[in-house]
Amino acid sequence: MSVASATATSPGAVAVVGAGVIGRSWIRVFTRAGFPTRVYDPDAEQLGRAVAWAGASAREDVHLGLCSYSEARAAEGRITSCTTLEEALDGVDYVQESGPEAVATKQSIYRELDAAAAPGVVLGSSTSANDMTVIAQGLAGAARCIVAHPVNPPHVIPLVEVLAGAETSPGVTASTLRLLRRAGMAPVLLDRFAPGFVLNRLQAALLREAISLVGTGVASPQVVDVVMREGLGLRWALVGPFGTGHVNADGGVGSYFRMYGDAYRSVWKDLDSAPNFGEDVIDAIARGMTATYGEDAVTDLSAWRDRMVRRIMQLKVEDPPPGAD
Ligand SMILES: NC(=O)c1ccc[n+]([C@@H]2O[C@H](COP(=O)([O-])OP(=O)(O)OC[C@H]3O[C@@H](n4cnc5c(N)ncnc54)[C@H](O)[C@@H]3O)[C@@H](O)[C@H]2O)c1
Repeated sequence: MSVASATATSPGAVAVVGAGVIGRSWIRVFTRAGFPTRVYDPDAEQLGRAVAWAGASAREDVHLGLCSYSEARAAEGRITSCTTLEEALDGVDYVQESGPEAVATKQSIYRELDAAAAPGVVLGSSTSANDMTVIAQGLAGAARCIVAHPVNPPHVIPLVEVLAGAETSPGVTASTLRLLRRAGMAPVLLDRFAPGFVLNRLQAALLREAISLVGTGVASPQVVDVVMREGLGLRWALVGPFGTGHVNADGGVGSYFRMYGDAYRSVWKDLDSAPNFGEDVIDAIARGMTATYGEDAVTDLSAWRDRMVRRIMQLKVEDPPPGAD
């Protein structure tokens, strides 16, 4: 059975291969959307932890009012733990590979997947940095291999960057986009490979400047974060960088860029392309975060961030922007 053959009422089964930070979150994405989900990790303890985490995370959603107890139970009931890759691939339409990032490891996992998966099963990868053209090079089933790069954690943040390799078939790209939408995600299709895709390139560009501002004494780490949190970030979740330009001048983005083009060019010339990213700067940033959030705050901060992201997303559903269908 192929991805395209799943019926309107019952999605076909999927496999999550690699059950670390990202794989366990994909379990939540698929199971809450009704997909029977077969999970495999060569590390049996990691597999057990991921399945236990997915159940606890679903129950936490009940607590937060995001789903009912019976929905959480039903989602948990869709998980099958598998002790071999072959067992995980049995009867599935789609695989979400989430193993280690090193390219040689990805190639080796893809060799195994392509050998073991039935014809027509789509092999999607969570890779953050690798090109599917390289991962699937030489595979008989290269046409069914595709990048489906999520944002951490995918059960909270819906964006997925989808990118075909040189040999990926257009039908596989179309069915992957359909399946991800059906799973409640918001996939975007990229046109060609660039290291870091779009999301991590934007993130890296901003981080490079944030690190430079701290390292060159322009502002403390706390102030850089406040500028994002209380300034740029408030707009970007709603309208993006180009949308921001669009509302920054009465005549829209064309007028804004023409008006401020020289100002941007002049700042661009001053930007630091290789900031100091040494231990001293990293320590200063770490101290800044401890000063802001206190010791041992990572777990609570991350849970709060996830809750707030969901509330912002809900607000956007309730009050969509003009032009949204
Ligand atoms: N963590 C992130 O922020 C993030 C975001 C987006 C995408 N990704 C991508 O997702 C993938 C997984 O990242 P992660 O952060 O979950 O890593 P992780 O280290 O938490 O998990 C990797 C898992 O792969 C398992 N594994 C090892 N060898 C394997 C094999 N041969 N077959 C299947 N599984 C195997 C490990 O046991 C481990 O459980 C990577 O490609 C990464 O680039 C990560």
